Amino acid sequence: MTFRIAPSILSADFARLGEEVKNVIAAGADWIHFDVMDNHYVPNLTFGPMVCQALKPHAKRADGTAVPVDVHLMVQPVDALAAAFADAGADLISFHPDASHHVHRSIQVIKSKGVKAGLVFNPAEELDVLDWVIDDIDLILIMSVNPGFGGQSFIDSALRKTEAVRKRIEATGRDIRLEVDGGIKIDNIRRVADAGADTFVAGSAIFGKPDYKTVIDAMRFALA
Ligand code: DX5
Ligand code: ZN
Repeated sequence: MTFRIAPSILSADFARLGEEVKNVIAAGADWIHFDVMDNHYVPNLTFGPMVCQALKPHAKRADGTAVPVDVHLMVQPVDALAAAFADAGADLISFHPDASHHVHRSIQVIKSKGVKAGLVFNPAEELDVLDWVIDDIDLILIMSVNPGFGGQSFIDSALRKTEAVRKRIEATGRDIRLEVDGGIKIDNIRRVADAGADTFVAGSAIFGKPDYKTVIDAMRFALA
């Protein structure tokens, strides 16, 4: 299992975003998690495709290799913004199925742009839609907090949901990433991995500390 750590720049210093992206990549980030909030689907407002496009050139390692930009859309409606983020350089785009009237169509909008598509499940949301679209997606994102804010506490039922999703992924035999988002810290990341996650979003745990590398190294040590 290749574990990936995806720092959420929601908790970065917005006045220095490019530098923050570079620093967290130098500290060992595997993906950059980009939380898009619209003050409609969630009660908060963050950044749009222009900011994604501006950051894209900074999402690179020292040797020039690109670091995937993992866009988490908390917006309603989905399709137009999903297309705009694909054009802005997103490598993966995930959306909440309850924010789209036509989930299959929204997935196709993303995939038609050559971008990987994901579905996001809130803490109280059923997984039933996966019965119909799991073969069309590349990523499943389990929310372990309610979407909208960084720095909330991990909701334990997300572990059971992660286990259930891992079983569904195994049944497909396909390579689908299983990402968990919200309240992940050094001291609970191992439990999340044991439930079946392979990709871990962490915002405040990383950007809330002065030395990002110390946190990311400790997370990897807990996963090893
Ligand atoms: C919440 C966002 C998360 C958030 C996680 O709606 O989707 O990505 O940044 O922040 P922490 O790690 O602080 O819970
Ligand atoms: Zn997120």
